[in-house]
Amino acid sequence: MNNNLAIEMKNITMIFNKKIIANNNINLKVKKGEIHAIIGENGAGKSTLMSILFGLYNPTFGEIFINGKSQIITNPVKANKLGIGMVHQHFKLIETYPFWKNISLGSEQTFLKFFINKQKTIKKITEIMNKYNLNIDLNKKPINSSVASQQKAEILKALYKESNILIFDEPTAVLTPNEIDGFLEVLLNLKKMGKTIVFITHKMAEIKKVADTATVLRNGEVVGEFDVKSTTVEQFATSMVGRKLKEVHVNYKEIKKDVILSIENLSMQNHNNHKITALKDFSLEISKGEIVSISGVEGNGQLELVNAITGLSKIKKGKIFIKNNLINKASVTKRYHKYKISHIPEDRHKHGLVLNNNLIDNMVLQDISQKKFSKFGFINFNAVQEYGQNIVKKYDVRNSQSGYAIARQLSGGNQQKAIVGRELERESDLIVIFQPTRGLDIGSIEFIHSEILKAKEKGKAILLISYELSEIIALSDRVIVLNSGNKVGELKGKEINIDKIGLMMMGERI
Ligand SMILES: Nc1ncnc2c1ncn2[C@@H]1O[C@H](COP(=O)(O)OP(=O)(O)OP(=O)(O)O)[C@@H](O)[C@H]1O
Ligand SMILES: [Mg+2]
Repeated sequence: MNNNLAIEMKNITMIFNKKIIANNNINLKVKKGEIHAIIGENGAGKSTLMSILFGLYNPTFGEIFINGKSQIITNPVKANKLGIGMVHQHFKLIETYPFWKNISLGSEQTFLKFFINKQKTIKKITEIMNKYNLNIDLNKKPINSSVASQQKAEILKALYKESNILIFDEPTAVLTPNEIDGFLEVLLNLKKMGKTIVFITHKMAEIKKVADTATVLRNGEVVGEFDVKSTTVEQFATSMVGRKLKEVHVNYKEIKKDVILSIENLSMQNHNNHKITALKDFSLEISKGEIVSISGVEGNGQLELVNAITGLSKIKKGKIFIKNNLINKASVTKRYHKYKISHIPEDRHKHGLVLNNNLIDNMVLQDISQKKFSKFGFINFNAVQEYGQNIVKKYDVRNSQSGYAIARQLSGGNQQKAIVGRELERESDLIVIFQPTRGLDIGSIEFIHSEILKAKEKGKAILLISYELSEIIALSDRVIVLNSGNKVGELKGKEINIDKIGLMMMGERI
């Protein structure tokens, strides 16, 4: 027994449905008061391991020690009792309850036993907010708040329950670069106050900034435990992926003008609040074989632009053409089929996959009525199966069970790979791509980037919206920067660099 350890997981094995080995004899040691990163490829078993620690799954084999004592953690309530809190990637807040109520849910301050004492509850939360420098408006509701505030509420919820061990499953995947810096500060603050933290992320820079130790998983097994200070980013990458990575970069050449997408003076209302104009008088042309990126802080009109092109929102002012055809009034389906627009959506759960269907179904979802998949109303199952399986294989969707795995059971990153594969492989003239590598491991990012470049070589016009500057720099022929719905400027080819984009994102015109 080791008294310095907050968590010790011994020989943990987790087998799903008697055949998927998500964790194979894993040993994990987390010291008291440290920030311990868990890293590894999509599907390596990170979320599963943490779900076991939080009592969401009972392991097939293995033992868990919390603060040196053997414990059987059968459910999250038991985990909470042991001082373990978890912030999930998909938040579990009740959208229509104010934050104070969400945070205290289940452990409210009461008087006369059952009346909730709002004042007392708010006072207690405020003390915690001050102590950890985590401020939100407690009377606001999640539904009207930013992702960053919702995440703070989840952290406050764990702290309210007096958790000493905090697990974060990819907390930064949904945050913008600015918010990420704020979040990493919060982690360091929590550590200063003596909390033990387990932090799952795919971003090496974040690990280098805050973590003390990192455990690397691959294919459900531990590759090793590393001291973060003395390990280089390249060493981490190689140990995760099992091979060296190569950098992918666009080979910029002047592009012959052959316009696929043309936008004229488009103005759009904010998708949440119709009184606010989110995009102002925006014009853009993208030619065959060209990748144009939109850069800017989240919420500066990007989503509204995508919704206007894909048909998810109505266009009030301005015109959108595909190969000279006005598509303002065309339905979503018509844009997808007739005008050949593919779309990798921002929210993979809402618009990307039918979670209860298998992968093969998901690969042909919108195209099932096409000639190659069905004739006279009869579906050609062989063709569907072959097509679906090819994509799943090519895009290395792990544990797909030859395409028959239910989408919901895949790890987050593997769901994303499946959507990206479907949209890149189908016949299209324009591909609208929103954050294609969110939640993906570094090996998969390299692969997806090279596939996007291949689509460009094939002559597709590509609109890329991304908050990752490194992604924009690697892939773009042109970059347009948006600030408060206005186009601040445009960079082309060799002019594209991080400093210039950064300045323009702050609203400076170049
Ligand atoms: N409930 C489940 N039923 C069946 N298989 C599952 C279930 N949950 C996870 N798996 C499988 O276990 C493997 C590990 O998944 P896990 O979610 O732990 O990966 P991860 O390391 O968190 O990946 P990512 O980085 O993509 O989030 C995956 O291949 C997944 O398909
Ligand atoms: Mg995961």
